[in-house]
Amino acid sequence: MDVMPASLDCCESTIKEIVVRHGRSKQDLIAILHDVQRVFGYLPESALIQVASNLDVPLSKVYGVATFYTLFSTKPMGEHVIRVCENAPCHLLGANSLIDVLEKELGIPMGGTTSCGTFTLKHTSCLGVCGVAPAIMIDDEVYGNLTPDEIPVILKKYR
Ligand code: FES
Repeated sequence: MDVMPASLDCCESTIKEIVVRHGRSKQDLIAILHDVQRVFGYLPESALIQVASNLDVPLSKVYGVATFYTLFSTKPMGEHVIRVCENAPCHLLGANSLIDVLEKELGIPMGGTTSCGTFTLKHTSCLGVCGVAPAIMIDDEVYGNLTPDEIPVILKKYR
């Protein structure tokens, strides 16, 4: 499957293909939204409407799921999405100091996207690697046991 951002013109057929691949199963709503976000880079409203229509579920339900989980975004995101875990273990072990450096290095607040469109900075719930807290995830890669001085070095890999 094409995982690069696609034109919304093909939204209808692309959404249909994804929903059919999941057997039109309402229980697969989260997996379907993951696939849609992988294709478009985020969850555009037109895509949510198509998902609701193809699954025959209320748009409010689809929208509720799309806005509940921090891994989903209903707004366009940067080329690289940096997610900072905000749950207790990471918080206690210095997540805020990582955020300070990330915001300073990128010149954007949490929730923002750089003007060049390279980075989006987001909070997320537990990444499942509490043993190496504090942790962040950039795209699909997790970085743990982080200290603030490691952030600029890591960002360089994505610039
Ligand atoms: S609390 Fe941060 S990874 Fe689990």
